[in-house]
Amino acid sequence: MADPVAGVLLDALLDGLPEQVAFTDREDRFVRVNRAYAERLGLADPGAAVGKSVASLLSQPEAEAFTKATAAAIHEGAPLPPREICVGIAGEDRWFAIAVAPFRDATGTIAGALTIGRDVTRGKRTEATLRDAVAVYESLIEQLPMNVFRKDREGRFVFVNTLLCTTLGVPRGTMIGKTDHDFSPQALADKFHRDDLQVMATGETLVGVEEHNPRDGESVHIQSFKAPVRNAAGEIVGTQGFFVDVTPLKRTEKALIKKTGEVEEAMRALEDNQQKLLIAEKMASLGRLTAGIAHEMNTPLAAVRSALSELDKLTQEYTDSIDDTEVGPDDHREIAAEMTQTLRLAASAAKRAAGFVSGVKAHTRDMAPRQREPFDAVEVIEETLLLLTHALRKRSCTIQFAHAEPPVVLYGTPGRLAQVITNLVNNAIDACATKPAGATKPAGAIAVRLTRDDAMVTLEIEDSGTGIPSDVVGKIFDPMFTTKRFGEGTGLGLTIVHDIVVGGFGGTIEVQTEVGSGTTFVVRIPVQADGA
Ligand SMILES: Nc1ncnc2c1ncn2[C@@H]1O[C@H](COP(=O)(O)OP(=O)(O)OP(=O)(O)O)[C@@H](O)[C@H]1O
Ligand SMILES: [Mg+2]
Repeated sequence: MADPVAGVLLDALLDGLPEQVAFTDREDRFVRVNRAYAERLGLADPGAAVGKSVASLLSQPEAEAFTKATAAAIHEGAPLPPREICVGIAGEDRWFAIAVAPFRDATGTIAGALTIGRDVTRGKRTEATLRDAVAVYESLIEQLPMNVFRKDREGRFVFVNTLLCTTLGVPRGTMIGKTDHDFSPQALADKFHRDDLQVMATGETLVGVEEHNPRDGESVHIQSFKAPVRNAAGEIVGTQGFFVDVTPLKRTEKALIKKTGEVEEAMRALEDNQQKLLIAEKMASLGRLTAGIAHEMNTPLAAVRSALSELDKLTQEYTDSIDDTEVGPDDHREIAAEMTQTLRLAASAAKRAAGFVSGVKAHTRDMAPRQREPFDAVEVIEETLLLLTHALRKRSCTIQFAHAEPPVVLYGTPGRLAQVITNLVNNAIDACATKPAGATKPAGAIAVRLTRDDAMVTLEIEDSGTGIPSDVVGKIFDPMFTTKRFGEGTGLGLTIVHDIVVGGFGGTIEVQTEVGSGTTFVVRIPVQADGA
C-alpha cells in the first residue's frame, strides 16, 4: 500500500524542481510530467499530459529523439549516460541536457522510462559566442606579423602564437608551461624576467627597442611591448606582449643616415665647385675684358701717335717758316688751323681712351669690397657698351642705346650693373652671331633701352638673334646651364645676372623670346631700392 505522505512529498519535489521531469510507459505514453515539463509543453495542468502519446505532444524530431532515448534505456535496463540534444522549438534551436533511466513497477519489471531534462540553450549560446570570439581573437593573433605571448605570474607561457614558435625554432605546443629560461640564454632570460616583474609591480606597459647580439655576429633589433594581464577582478595575473624584429628597418635607417651624410658631403663639394666655377667665370670674363680693352686702347693710341707725329711735322714746318719771307700770315693761319685740327683728333682719341679706362674702373670696382652709392645708370651703361665695341665689331653686330634723360639714378654698386649689361649683351652677340642665314630681321641688331617712371627703372636688351627654344627657356637661369660649346660658355652668366638683379638690386628679370626672331631680356629695378 503506497505511503500517502510519500506521494505528497514526491509531488512537491517534482513540481518544485526547475528540471523538466517526465515518466513514460513502454508504449511511449506520458504517465506523469512535472510542472516544469507541462509548462514546456504549453500545458497549464500537468495532469493534462497523462495518457497522451509522446508523438501527440512533441514535435516529430523531438518525439523521435525522445523515444529513441527512452527505448535505449528500457532496452539497457540501466540509466543512459547524460547527453545533450538539440530540438527545434518554435523555429529556433533549443538545447537540453537530458538524463534517461528505466523505472520498474512493484514486481521489478521495467514499466517505462524516466526522463529529466534541463534547458541549456542560454549556456550553449554563450559558449558558441565565446568560441566565435576566441576564434576571431586567435586568427587575429595568428595573422599578426608579430611574436605574441602571454605568461602567468611565475613567467610560464600560457599562450604563444605560431610565429613566436617559428622564431624560437620550437614545435608548437612545447612552449606552454615553460619559461624564458628554457629558450633564451641565461642573461637575456634574466632580463626578460626582471621586465616581467617590473610590469607586474607597476602595472605599466614597457615599450622599447632592444639590441641583441646572437652568436653569428650582426646585431638584431627587437621592438618589444610588454603589458600586465588582469583578470575580471582587475588583479594582475601575468604578463602579455609582442615583439617584432625591426633589424631590416634599423638597417635602412642606418643606410639612410649614411646616405644623408654622403649627400651632404656631395652638396658641400658641389658648393665648393660652384664657388670655384664662379671665380673661373670671373677670371674668364676679366680675360675677355682685357683683350677687348687692349684692342680698343690700341686704336685711339694709334690715332694719338699719328696726330703727334703730324703735329711734330707741322711744328717743324712752322719753325722753319719763321725766317722765311715767302711765308705770310695766311700760311701761318693755315698751319695753325691744321695743328688745331690734329690736336682735336688727338684729344678725341684720348677721350675715347679715357672712356675705356673709366669703364674698366666700373668693372674693377666690383672686385673691391662692396660699396653702395647713388650712380647714373646711363653713364655706367655707356661706359660698359664702349668696352664691348670690339666684341660687337668682331661679330658684325650693331648696338643702339636709347635712354631716358640722364641722370637715371640707381643706388648700389655701378660695377654690378656693368656686369649685368656685359653678360646680357654678350649673350645677345652670341645669339646674333650663331643665327642661321635667311632669318627675318637683319642679323646682329641689338637694342638697349633704359626707361624710368616714378617707381621703376626698366632696362631692356633686345636682340635679333636665334631666340630660345621653349624646352630651353625654363633652364637658362640655372647655374651651369649652357647650350654653347665647351670653352665658349660656362652657363653662369645669367645666374650671376639673376643674383645681381633679384638679390642685389631687389628687382626682377624676365625673358620674351621667339625662335628665329629674337630675344628681349627685361630687367626692372625699383628706384628706391638700396641696391647691390
Ligand atoms: N639672348 C639670347 N638668345 C638666345 N639664347 C640665349 C640668350 N641669352 C641666353 N641664352 C641661352 O641661355 C643659356 C645660358 O646663358 P648664360 O649666359 O647663363 O650662359 P652662357 O652664355 O652659355 O655661358 P657664360 O657663362 O659664358 O655666359 C645660353 O647658353 C643660351 O642657350
Ligand atoms: Mg652668357
